[in-house]
Amino acid sequence: MEILRTILLILHFVGLASLLGGFLVQVKAIGAGRGTVVPAMVHGALTQLVTGLLLVATIQMGDLDELNNAKIAVKLVIAAVITVLVFVYRKKAPAPSWALWSIGALTVANIAVAVAWR
Ligand code: HEM
Repeated sequence: MEILRTILLILHFVGLASLLGGFLVQVKAIGAGRGTVVPAMVHGALTQLVTGLLLVATIQMGDLDELNNAKIAVKLVIAAVITVLVFVYRKKAPAPSWALWSIGALTVANIAVAVAWR
């Protein structure tokens, strides 16, 4: 179970890199009003949802650590909003700037929740 948890956590970081990296490469274009939802954001958002939920299942089955349910609920809601935004605007060019900034800000917010809320 420990090895599965480690693999899932690594994939969770890969998904984070894809989502945040996809946003960061668009910052200049967003400033010029030409920003789009790139596939890296869509794949990253889905990876975060899937690996996050599997991490929860793995940790609960392992029975070693207590999960902070409120923290997980907040992360799930934030990730769900990100996923809705990337799917709604993935075929719109340009995508609204507010939607793209929200994707970036919510991703950073979820990192903050993950590391600062113990
Ligand atoms: C944009 C979405 C997300 C981001 C940016 C994100 C970010 C992170 C980060 C940076 C960590 C590492 C924290 C640490 O080890 O100190 C982490 C761990 C974790 N995340 Fe997420 N996360 C996201 C979505 C989710 C979702 C949707 C869930 C579950 C519903 C989830 C469940 C978890 C769990 C259970 C861990 C702890 C893993 C462990 O301790 O083994 N995450 N997340």
